[in-house]
Amino acid sequence: MLKTHTCGELRAEHAGARVSLAGWVHRRRDHGNIIFVDLRDRWGLTQVVFNPDKDSQAHELAGRLRSEYVIQVTGVVRLRPEGQANPKLATGAIEVVAQELTILNEAKQPVFAINEDTEPDEALRLRYRYLDLRRERMQHNLILRHEVVHFIREYLSARGFLEIETPILFKSTPEGARDYIVPSRVHAGKFYALPQSPQQLKQLLMVSGYERYYQIARCFRDEDQRGDRQPEFTQLDLEMAFASRDDILALVEGLFTAMIPAVTPQKRVISPFPRMSYSEALARYGSDKPDLRFGMLIEDLTPLLGASEFKVFKQTAASGGQIKAICAPGCAAYTRRELDELAELARDQGAAGLATLAYTAEGVKGPAVKFLSEGELAAVADKMGAKTGDLVCVAADQATAASKALGALRLLFRDRLKLAPADLMAFGYVVDFPMFEWSAEEKRWDAAHHPFTMPKVDDLPYLESDPARVYSDAYDLVCNGYELASGSIRIHRRDIQQRIFAVLGYSEEETKARFGHMLEAFEYGAPPHGGIAPGIDRLVMLLADEPNIREVIAFPKSQSAVDLMTDAPSEVTPHQLKELHIRLD
Ligand code: AMO
Ligand code: AMP
Repeated sequence: MLKTHTCGELRAEHAGARVSLAGWVHRRRDHGNIIFVDLRDRWGLTQVVFNPDKDSQAHELAGRLRSEYVIQVTGVVRLRPEGQANPKLATGAIEVVAQELTILNEAKQPVFAINEDTEPDEALRLRYRYLDLRRERMQHNLILRHEVVHFIREYLSARGFLEIETPILFKSTPEGARDYIVPSRVHAGKFYALPQSPQQLKQLLMVSGYERYYQIARCFRDEDQRGDRQPEFTQLDLEMAFASRDDILALVEGLFTAMIPAVTPQKRVISPFPRMSYSEALARYGSDKPDLRFGMLIEDLTPLLGASEFKVFKQTAASGGQIKAICAPGCAAYTRRELDELAELARDQGAAGLATLAYTAEGVKGPAVKFLSEGELAAVADKMGAKTGDLVCVAADQATAASKALGALRLLFRDRLKLAPADLMAFGYVVDFPMFEWSAEEKRWDAAHHPFTMPKVDDLPYLESDPARVYSDAYDLVCNGYELASGSIRIHRRDIQQRIFAVLGYSEEETKARFGHMLEAFEYGAPPHGGIAPGIDRLVMLLADEPNIREVIAFPKSQSAVDLMTDAPSEVTPHQLKELHIRLD
């Protein structure tokens, strides 16, 4: 190696040793005659001193050094002079007095500073990702990601799980997004699909008798990009045979409660993870991915206000809707404009309107107040725990619309009032999802999770007659307002699987062409099985306190699904197209 030590390694006890270091010039400072270089490698920074009295040749060469030059330095470690130690730096007790310097490579002036905390423009960061990845923030994130994956492998391996790779060139595996497809050269007009997840393959591994499988699996989905979505992303994909829902939930809970103190000791996890049904999550948090770091639960005021004189409330209650509310502490003094903003957000989320009740020292204020009795206002305060100074936000609508709007307001207040402790990883399980969702656009039933999910056994009789009342053995793991994982107990019987495909509107031929292999496999001794898939990118994003998953992926795509560094996707040659039997219009 060109180095005897790393740039993060040298301490006071190394004083007197002759060492070689190699890395990048992080910073160069000329102090008259003496030149200081902070030398950086993956492990840290070490201060190197070039003194004309010690070695004039090295000193002269050091005068040519610029940021990001790659160099090798040989010299002697010495304690920094009295008062010059830097306690913030791991190597801050020492410096290396250079005797030899080799410039291994020069560097152009970097397009943004590697050695500063200022955030460069993201497009520039993605264009020069190899430079961006030199920055401390990105290094920290990628190291954390490595530690997370390493922990997962050890934890699951110790519990009898086998890591098994599955193909990328595969057949469409629906998870609700569009497929990325790959044309076949050998088979004109035919295409592979990149897996949206290894869902079918991991189930087939259960049929094969492996019983405990996992994989750090790349998934591909052509869908609209968001901060927590990328066209390709990574799941911890796992599957177990002969396991109940609770076995799977316990395994994942055990994994995360052990992992987080090990990889991010500054984060807190509360175990046991709370569990709630999908309908409870919607009713109390207005979301199927509730942020459990704080309270501000949605309350149902229909029994208190359904018979009030306020027309909207009365009509809503009479038509089977609900009057729901949250209480924002200390927000009673919101201005007209701030209140309008709240109402606008509620309407954007699909609620018919929003009424606010400001509990002030001069009494309760708001558009509905004059229609409500003292008793009603007091009962609302009591139910909501509203004190003087608090603002109660009331939405009257169909239950789901009211809850969703208040759920969005809850998150707005979370951010404004800083209600969510930053060090908390608030996990929770959402269980008992509906099996199907009605797609108004396509006028048919969609699988709420995916078509391989097992309906609740008690609901099987209603599969065809009333899909809306069929619930499933699906579950989500949520954390801090994100959906971190989804999973389910699977169907392992051909007849049930076939009925599901029929409800989803697949013809017999279509079912056979797309999923014949699954149906067939179920006839050769498929064990009961189930699994789950936590998103690694989202997990690391939360652990690293990053605002989006691009920050924890070495080479992510931009918001428009482009690799700005290489310009992919890009054109291919006419020859390639011809070979692939593709004509462009
Ligand atoms: P699902 O589609 O819910 O389930 O995905 C599971 C988890 O994967 C992560 N995730 C994503 N992360 C980044 N970018 C995306 N575009 C993206 N899409 C999903 C999320 C999500 O919770 N086969 C099933 C799992 C199973 O049933 O075992 C599946 O893929 O963290
Ligand atoms: P409008 O009759 O639409 O002008 O509404 C008068 C006031 O009633 C609004 O300012 C809101 O405060 C309240 N309001 C209207 N619709 C709703 C609703 N669906 N839920 C709660 N409050 C409402």
